Amino acid sequence: MSEYKIAVLAGDGIGPEVMFEAKKVLAAVSSKFNIKFNLSEFDVGGIAIDNHGHALPDATLKGCEAADAILFGSIGGPKWDSLPLEQRPERAALLALRGHFDLFSNLRPAKIYPGLEALSPLRADIAASGFDVLVIRELTSGIYFGKPKGLEGEGEEQYAFDTMRYSRREIRRIAISAFEAAMKRGKKVTSVDKANVLVCSRLWREVTEEVALDYPEVKLEHIYIDNATMQLLRYPNSFDVMLCSNLFGDIISDECAMITGSMGLLPSASINGSGFGLFEPAGGSAPDIAGQGIANPIAQILSLSMLLRFSLNETAAADAIDQAVLQTLADGILTGELLAKEQRHLAKSTSEVGDYIV
Ligand code: NAD
Ligand code: IPM
Ligand code: MN
Repeated sequence: MSEYKIAVLAGDGIGPEVMFEAKKVLAAVSSKFNIKFNLSEFDVGGIAIDNHGHALPDATLKGCEAADAILFGSIGGPKWDSLPLEQRPERAALLALRGHFDLFSNLRPAKIYPGLEALSPLRADIAASGFDVLVIRELTSGIYFGKPKGLEGEGEEQYAFDTMRYSRREIRRIAISAFEAAMKRGKKVTSVDKANVLVCSRLWREVTEEVALDYPEVKLEHIYIDNATMQLLRYPNSFDVMLCSNLFGDIISDECAMITGSMGLLPSASINGSGFGLFEPAGGSAPDIAGQGIANPIAQILSLSMLLRFSLNETAAADAIDQAVLQTLADGILTGELLAKEQRHLAKSTSEVGDYIV
C-alpha cells in the first residue's frame, strides 16, 4: 500500500468549508485505491494570526517541510486587512510559502466542458466555440517579490513604489514549463506581456523566443495583456497555453475561471524544480459568502486531484476525481453561483456537492 504525508492548511473564510469536502473525497480515494494518507492539519493565515500571532507559524512551516505535498485552502479577510502589508495573511503566509519552497511554476487549468456551455457567462455561440486553457503563471518573482518596495516622503509628495524585476533565468524556467505543457496539449503557447511599455516584458519576449527554438513543434504567439483580456472573451478557443508573469497571470486566471462559470471551479498547482508542490483553489476566502455553506468546493477538490497527479503520481485516483466532478456538473448538482437567478432555488449546498462527488 502506498503511503503519503499531506500537510493540510485550510485557512480562512470558505477555506475550511471547502477543505472539509476535499477531505471527504480524499477518504473515498483512500479506500477505493488502497492508498494511505497521513494528514497533518495546521493553522495558516488570519486564523494563525489570531491563534499564534503570526500568519505562518513555525510549526506550520515545519509541517509543510515534512510533508510530501501541501493542500492549501484560502486565506485573508476583512478582519486582517488593516494590518501592515508584510504581516497580512496574503504576504506573510501565502507569498512566504511560495517563496520558501521556490514554487515558481503555477498551473491553472480552465475549461468549458462539452455539454456544460450553459455554465459560462459568455454568449452561447461563443461558449459553444470551446475553451480549454492552461494558464502558466510565474509565481515567485516579478512585481510581487521585486525590491525595493516601499513608501517614502510626506503629504502630497508622498510616493509608493514596487519593483517589477525578472532575470533571464527566471523567465527561462517558466517558459520551459509552458512549452513542456504545450507539448502535451495543443502545441501552442501564447505569451502575455506588455512589451510596448515594460522593459521586463521586452526581456520576457526575448527569452521566450530563445526557449521556443528548442520546441519547433510548438507555435509561439505574443499578445499584450490588455488585448488578451478581450480576446479571451471574444475568441476563447484561440488559446491553449497562456504564459504569464506573476501579476498578469493572477488577473488572467480569474478571467479564465469566470469564463468556465465560476471562481469556485478553478484549481491550481504551484510546483518547484524538484516536483514539490502546494495545491490550492485560484480563488480566495470569499468573505461575501463565507459561513453560509454555499461555497463551491470543486476548485478545492480539483486542487486535490492535481496534488495526486503532479506530486504523488497517483494518476488513477486523480482521474477518478476529475471524472466524478465532471459527472456532478453534468448531473446539474450545482452551487448557487453557477445558476441563473430564476434557477437559484435549485442550488445545492457545499456539502451536497461534496457528497455527490464522493
Ligand atoms: P475571492 O476569490 O475570495 O472572491 C471573489 C468572488 O468570487 C466573490 O464574489 C466570491 O464569492 C467568489 N468565489 C470565490 N470562490 C468561490 C467559491 N469557491 N464558490 C463560490 N464563489 C466563489 O476574491 P476577493 O473577494 O478579492 O478576496 C477575498 C480575500 O481572499 C482577500 O483577503 C484576498 O486577499 C484573499 N485571497 C486569497 C487567495 C488565496 O488564499 N489563495 C486567493 C485570492 C484572494
Ligand atoms: C492568487 C491570489 C494571491 C495572488 C493573493 C492572495 C496574494 O490572488 O493566488 O491568485 O495574488 O497570487
Ligand atoms: Mn488571484
